[in-house]
Amino acid sequence: MSNVLVMGSGGREHAVCHTLKKSKRVDKLFCVPGNAGIAEIAETKKLSVFDFDGIYEYAKENNVDLIFVTPDDPLAKGAVDYFTERGIRAFGPKADAARLESSKAFSKDFMARHGIPTAKSVIFDSSEKATEYLDNARYPLVIKADGLALGKGVLICSDRSEAQSAIEQLMVSKAFGDAGDRILIEEFLSGREVTVMAFCDGKHISVMPSSQDHKRAYDGDKGLNTGGMGAFAPSPFFTEAKKSEFMEKIALPTVKGLIEDGIDYKGVIYFGLMMTDDGLKVIEYNSRLGDPETEAVLPLLESDIMDIIDACIDGKLDKIDIKWSDKTGFTVVIASGGYPSNVIKGYEISIGKLNDVVLFHAGTALKDGKLVTSGGRVFELSAVADDLDEARKLVYGQIDKIGFKDSRYRTDIGKV
Ligand code: AMP
Ligand code: GLY
Repeated sequence: MSNVLVMGSGGREHAVCHTLKKSKRVDKLFCVPGNAGIAEIAETKKLSVFDFDGIYEYAKENNVDLIFVTPDDPLAKGAVDYFTERGIRAFGPKADAARLESSKAFSKDFMARHGIPTAKSVIFDSSEKATEYLDNARYPLVIKADGLALGKGVLICSDRSEAQSAIEQLMVSKAFGDAGDRILIEEFLSGREVTVMAFCDGKHISVMPSSQDHKRAYDGDKGLNTGGMGAFAPSPFFTEAKKSEFMEKIALPTVKGLIEDGIDYKGVIYFGLMMTDDGLKVIEYNSRLGDPETEAVLPLLESDIMDIIDACIDGKLDKIDIKWSDKTGFTVVIASGGYPSNVIKGYEISIGKLNDVVLFHAGTALKDGKLVTSGGRVFELSAVADDLDEARKLVYGQIDKIGFKDSRYRTDIGKV
């Protein structure tokens, strides 16, 4: 039996804790900092995910055997390196491997080196050079901050003046700080987006059911890009033929490329894919589980997650058989009124009786014994059902039982 500590505080972390709780091999579960929902199934402590020393002390005091590092920032800052060097097993890529997500310039270069299909792009360190490039560019085009920017450092520009202001925003006014010191100008890809997450042990890769996220804030894909407003799994468009293409052209070349470059990638690789007329292309890699995709995908896992984590860390993913349900996983984000721009927090929440669904907390906290909102995305309501229609009915039929001032959700998640 193991004591396990999860780092992070969102719905994704609640789904990870929920899955670990089902394991026969987990004794005590801890989460830092967690949220009010996670606190119902794990011991939580208010520590920053960047306070590696504090987390190490807390883990030691509680005889923690394994730390699951979930969010991108601590992975990029070397959380797995830090805990491993001090003798605690940690799940996730080390900092050099996490560069697949933490530097878009690095990941573009990686894909070019290893012949992995992606949008053509050019990298710029100076705003003058980037602006010059705009004169002969084709529109629309995509401008991206090189570094981590909470999923918001990507701007799709339909003409030169939008592109000019994107460069100014990222490189001159530094809307995302250092993340915009270097930018990428990229070819615009059109098609349907699909997510494939996979476990990787450094040598082998095991793919989870595909999923689709809905990134825009409002129904009909209107409004600003968000961290994601809902997801479902699997994607009906990610057919067996697409899966074979993905394995042959993207997943296996990625693992082979990592090995050739001397990068020992252990953890989850997230492939953000565009299904273009010209075949599958990688939009981005993430070095972690997606949010909210995880809240739709992990409920489909039938194997013990601890066996998978061990196999990843020990390089034995080829020795285990991972079982997934062939049902449909579905999740809808319930957000605060102004999300993703102006989020007002601290509203009291009421929850009615829910059946055959799981409510994952994202931005919730307890204040004077009362459950209150504490973030942009407040909950994800998830269900597993025989098909997408059934799953939608379960979630949308009960979503209004969760109430707080100005709450909002998309009504078209899973409409495909
Ligand atoms: P990223 O952070 O790279 O995943 O980008 C965020 C979102 O912007 C993606 O999920 C896509 O919807 C969109 N996007 C990024 N790159 C491109 C591209 N080259 N062409 C079209 N859409 C893109
Ligand atoms: N849902 C997209 C992400 O986690 O990056």
